Amino acid sequence: MIATPEENDSADKPVRVLHLEDSATDHELACLALRHASSEYTLTRVDTLQALRAYLLDRSFDVVLADYRLRGFTAIDAWNLAQEIPAHPPFILLSGAIGEAAAVHAMRMGFADYLLKDDIARLPRVIARAIEMAQARRAREQAGAELAASEKRLAELAEHLQATIEEERAAIAREIHDDVGGALTAARFDLAWITRHATDTAIAAHARSANDMLQHALGASQRIMMNLRPPVLDQGLIAAVQWLTQTFERRTGTPTRVLADPQEPCIAKALQLVAYRTVQEALTNIQKYAQAHSVRVELSAHDDHMLLEVVDDGVGMAPQALANARSFGLRGLRERARRAGGWLDISSQSGCGTSIILTLPTSSGHDGAGGDPTP
Ligand SMILES: Nc1ncnc2c1ncn2[C@@H]1O[C@H](COP(=O)(O)OP(=O)(O)OP(=O)(O)O)[C@@H](O)[C@H]1O
Ligand SMILES: [Mg+2]
Repeated sequence: MIATPEENDSADKPVRVLHLEDSATDHELACLALRHASSEYTLTRVDTLQALRAYLLDRSFDVVLADYRLRGFTAIDAWNLAQEIPAHPPFILLSGAIGEAAAVHAMRMGFADYLLKDDIARLPRVIARAIEMAQARRAREQAGAELAASEKRLAELAEHLQATIEEERAAIAREIHDDVGGALTAARFDLAWITRHATDTAIAAHARSANDMLQHALGASQRIMMNLRPPVLDQGLIAAVQWLTQTFERRTGTPTRVLADPQEPCIAKALQLVAYRTVQEALTNIQKYAQAHSVRVELSAHDDHMLLEVVDDGVGMAPQALANARSFGLRGLRERARRAGGWLDISSQSGCGTSIILTLPTSSGHDGAGGDPTP
């Protein structure tokens, strides 16, 4: 059944067809082919590019039927014009014999389908399929956009959490330094006084032993502070990495070498923290899983980036290791590297050790604005 264009918004929602056709007879043929179909159609005929553009901008259509050759332009020109119009309807080429090459070209450009006028009886089916495909594509695009938006929200949340963690670590380190460290140091002074003035040897021995304990507690609080608040900003990245590796070597007994150019890499403080946390996590993983005989940490500066490599000669990662839903260490490092404008490569082979390579930008003053806050 054919309705007039004005009836487009009727309750049973006819299929709205814009027909680009300069022959009134051929338009009538299309109307006839759709008249006895099960759906209802409204057909609007246009025969110039200007009219096509105006209709596509002003009204909604479900499909465009386009003759191939019109006066002064082709269906391809019409298609190119439609690309400027957001969410334009699918195009079907409805034409006399135009040759296979032209039909293939049109399909490659994005036409939904191609139908010969001799075969016009199939038009309702071709239209229904083109509309279905366009709807499916739109649904896919929407799902993709929603997924991208949700990934972006997740990345923002991760960034916020990371920033909060670093801030809290810095605050705890400050409190340990000011309160605990201050009190322990004051107590040591008092104990030193007692030791000096003690006339009883037993009291002096107890005071010395208490002093040793305090010394131990001071060392522990300094270690905790170093872990919480990396010393990168005070002493530079190389010193910080050396401190990490020395602590690791002492704790695990695994020989660990640092190879670095004597000159500090020129990277922003926020990025130094990314590098520091990468070494820290890589060493923690080596201690937990690698059973390594030796570890090498290498820092090198290049034109506009620095490379940080942590290599062990341990058992290597299992093929599925990174897929573990409960493992966040390496995933977090990757995300941090990405936000800092760099990237993280992980390579490992069973039995041949693991290598973690972090690349960070050094030039153009990238300040890691999206990265972690300075602790
Ligand atoms: N140096 C390594 N040698 C061998 N296996 C490793 C090494 N580093 C990581 N892995 C494997 O990769 C997995 C993922 O590591 P990742 O640091 O992401 O998570 P995790 O250490 O298991 O947990 P989390 O870091 O969240 O506490 C580990 O569970 C481990 O199986
Ligand atoms: Mg880990």
